[in-house]
Amino acid sequence: MHTQHSPGSALSVSMSCPLVILLCVGLLHQSASAVRMDKLAPNKICGDAECSYVISLATALDDFIAPDCRFINIRRGQMVYVYSKLIPEEGAGVFWSGSVYSERYVNQMGIIGYFPATIVNETQKFTEDTVKIPTTNMDFFCD
Ligand SMILES: *[C@@H]1O[C@H](CO)[C@@H](O)[C@H](O)[C@H]1NC(C)=O
Repeated sequence: MHTQHSPGSALSVSMSCPLVILLCVGLLHQSASAVRMDKLAPNKICGDAECSYVISLATALDDFIAPDCRFINIRRGQMVYVYSKLIPEEGAGVFWSGSVYSERYVNQMGIIGYFPATIVNETQKFTEDTVKIPTTNMDFFCD
């Protein structure tokens, strides 16, 4: 995430170089150690082989707080674009990936992450043609 610095904080940052270097080293170390997370499921359903098409639009029936970086936060009432649907292994929860629709970000892709399918109501399907493909570690890579 990018934070905006006020002129005041930029000044204080430039005056504390050793601290900045330490912070940068710390951040680099942190992203280098961003290990891949466990896969939530071995297979998924998408609108196309690249999972680039939105499958459907759904409305959140409940709040969801992301437990880790693989997931996204969703608030009740928000609209969510669904990009993929994981096919759960027996006994596992059903998770879909998507991004929260927001007019502010209409020209940008929102943050994509997973959420439980049970907290949304699919209101609009954009495609009936779906493909089943194996998930890869990249589907669950985040930091
Ligand atoms: C889901 O949306 C449909 C309208 O698209 C509505 O009729 C239905 O009541 C909704 N279900 C829930 C659980 O809110």
